[in-house]
Amino acid sequence: MKKKKRTLKKKKFKKKFKYLFIIFIILIIIITGLIIFSKKQNTNVSKKKKTIKDVYYNKCNKLDYCNNKNINRYLAYHKKNDDLNFEDIVTRVNLNLDYSFYTHTKKAKDLNKDYILVNKYYYLDENYIPNNLENIPEEYSRSGMKLVSSAKEAFVKLARDARKNNTPVIAMSSFRSYDYQVDLYDRYKRKEGKNAADTYSARPGFSEHQTGLCVDVYDGEIDYTSFEKSDSFKWMSDNAYKYGFILRYPKGKDSITGYQYESWHYRYVGQKIAKYIKENDITYDEYYAKFIENNY
Ligand code: DAL
Ligand code: ZN
Repeated sequence: MKKKKRTLKKKKFKKKFKYLFIIFIILIIIITGLIIFSKKQNTNVSKKKKTIKDVYYNKCNKLDYCNNKNINRYLAYHKKNDDLNFEDIVTRVNLNLDYSFYTHTKKAKDLNKDYILVNKYYYLDENYIPNNLENIPEEYSRSGMKLVSSAKEAFVKLARDARKNNTPVIAMSSFRSYDYQVDLYDRYKRKEGKNAADTYSARPGFSEHQTGLCVDVYDGEIDYTSFEKSDSFKWMSDNAYKYGFILRYPKGKDSITGYQYESWHYRYVGQKIAKYIKENDITYDEYYAKFIENNY
């Protein structure tokens, strides 16, 4: 009787063990399947990543101002700005626009050249004063205004023709020293706070006015901040480029220039560059990154 019971127990145990074993095998199969599936997915993702990077390397090799060392920055910038084309991504990253303004700053390179770039990443030393500063004749400026010789010559021609057309263009601020900019920026900062001041005033060393190549103008009557409403502004919009001047901080380009629209601030870059910038509706920063930075 006892023997029979024992064999029955053994049989039951064997049956239970069989079920458990089958469940165990099924679990193993499912887990292995899942592992294989997720590994496959991962390889697909990394293959995809590799492919985008490869496409970028290929495109980069065909664009003379593209820098292979910046590939990861281009990719990251594209992720955040998927409306931009490849050329714009390269241009903007080369300008350091993927970094915050006033970070990763460098000394401006082309001192005493008409094509120098000074912006929120390229600065001038506190003792930098350009060569060949000359006074603008007082008939075309407030007293004591100076520009670098080439810019002054061009400005005098522009102002003379503007006057002939009854749309006067008068210089009200041009070359500014580092110390002058210290006072100006401090005054704005005290008045409106640092964040507001940064939208319209350059920090000392970062002002293009220190290059002696730019000029703030007005029509001799209304305040310069309303220059846009004057006939003189209309004349400047149509003609400034013929004398080698460009509107340096155009409307809607704050994310590139770092400054809000300034209808009164004109920069001398020479006739060839000014014409290109006008026809292609780009900023000087972009022109510099595309055509000057790696070529001079
Ligand atoms: N207002 C321009 C940006 C300057 O301060 O140089
Ligand atoms: Zn200005």
